[in-house]
Amino acid sequence: MNLKEVLKLADEIVFTKTGQHLDDLQTAVLRGTLQRETYKQIAKEFDCSESSVRNAGSELWRILSEELGEEVNKSNLRAAMERVQNSNILNFAQNVSGSFNICGESRHPPDLPNSHPPNQEASNTQSPQTLHQDLSEMPDLGAFYDRTSELDTLKTLILQQRCRLIALTGISGIGKTALAAQLVQQIKHEFEYAIWCSLDQSYTLDKFQQQLIQFFSESENPDSLPTNQKPLPLIKYLQNYRCLVVLDDIHNLFSSGEFAGKYKPGYEDYRFFLKQIEQLSHQSCFLLIGWEQPREVPHYQSSNDPICTLQIPGLDIPAAREILRDYGLAAIENDSALISRYQGNPLWLQTVATLIQELGGCAHEILLDDTILLPERLKDILQQQCDRVSEIEKQVLSLLAQASEPINLAKLLENRLILPSYLLNAMQSLCRRCLIEKQAEFYRMQPVLRQYINSTLM
Ligand SMILES: Nc1ncnc2c1ncn2[C@@H]1O[C@H](COP(=O)(O)OP(=O)(O)OP(=O)(O)O)[C@@H](O)[C@H]1O
Ligand SMILES: [Mg+2]
Repeated sequence: MNLKEVLKLADEIVFTKTGQHLDDLQTAVLRGTLQRETYKQIAKEFDCSESSVRNAGSELWRILSEELGEEVNKSNLRAAMERVQNSNILNFAQNVSGSFNICGESRHPPDLPNSHPPNQEASNTQSPQTLHQDLSEMPDLGAFYDRTSELDTLKTLILQQRCRLIALTGISGIGKTALAAQLVQQIKHEFEYAIWCSLDQSYTLDKFQQQLIQFFSESENPDSLPTNQKPLPLIKYLQNYRCLVVLDDIHNLFSSGEFAGKYKPGYEDYRFFLKQIEQLSHQSCFLLIGWEQPREVPHYQSSNDPICTLQIPGLDIPAAREILRDYGLAAIENDSALISRYQGNPLWLQTVATLIQELGGCAHEILLDDTILLPERLKDILQQQCDRVSEIEKQVLSLLAQASEPINLAKLLENRLILPSYLLNAMQSLCRRCLIEKQAEFYRMQPVLRQYINSTLM
């Protein structure tokens, strides 16, 4: 679709919903979005504040999302509009009163198993099943690039293989939360309930269960006054309904200064709860996101397990390039080397891009050689992660940071300061935290982390 066609279609959709045509600012947001401009650039061209553009954008995405029955945002506008055009649904909508909703169509790809509970099959073909959602804690999606393969893998695990528990891990800033938010928007209509919980430091199992049970019981019976009737245990809801439950920042359940994934005192009952999620028969899916995963969740997946881990890699070069472009670094020389140096980690790249933006050309020139800049914000991010590791892990990190090449276990064991059994556990823990990588027989540390560790006295 060309720009004119997208604008015309968007205008029709907005008019259907609000009775008003697109105004000039909304048109500028759509045009800028299609030309892959940032909000800042659109604001400059339209001669207004960035916040006005952001607000106009959020309102537009909300209207379009509601009308199309799928999340529409800056990164998928064109694709969403093309889907509408292909589905011809607008013609249908113009013939009926009120708004239209693409969820009315069956959303199941032909070869996917029906993901609805057996007793609701009648609702699958024409009308959408009711989705109850509490996604108020899910972060707003900003620009989102690529991740096609990770999204496909997750959809296969959740919708086809019916995994009950999936851990998304990866170093801070790699994009776990953004990926999960994108996934939720894409698959939430396959579920009857979708809830996102960001775990803070005090999120006990009791608090979590109460929040979920309240959500289920209120949406089952919205008009009922509180009664003395005992609510069902959480697992019953997970068995009766197909629910998607996202727990973000799950590392808050685990102790600092211990090997990865050890529950903090007072949080051990999560172990039993998650075991139930894994082992009992139910139709729901839990997505656990964080720097560490529970020890019971294996780091590597064996086929057809109801439980698995997906370690999120950095963005590939074209996607990471888009991030640099958003920061006004479109024509940076040898950007692929820069992206690789920062592992395609979107947050790390953002911190470096901000530094270059703020300092101008000189920082840009420094980046042309192999220098690894560590902006203060990036140091803070790395410090948060490194502060969590145990003393033995710190020793191993120092050893690896000083080694000029990847190092194998035999070589590490030559170091007599750490007992072999502790050393092996420390290596396992560091791999689980994604602070070191294993390639064939060798362990290595990413350059950014090496630079950070060597520049601090751990
Ligand atoms: N695919 C993507 N395209 C564009 N920006 C992205 C993408 N993934 C992540 N980002 C951006 O990178 C930053 C870090 O992402 P995110 O918060 O998802 O990381 P995280 O792995 O959850 O980090 P943490 O472990 O600290 O919570 C955010 O500003 C996010 O918008
Ligand atoms: Mg996150």
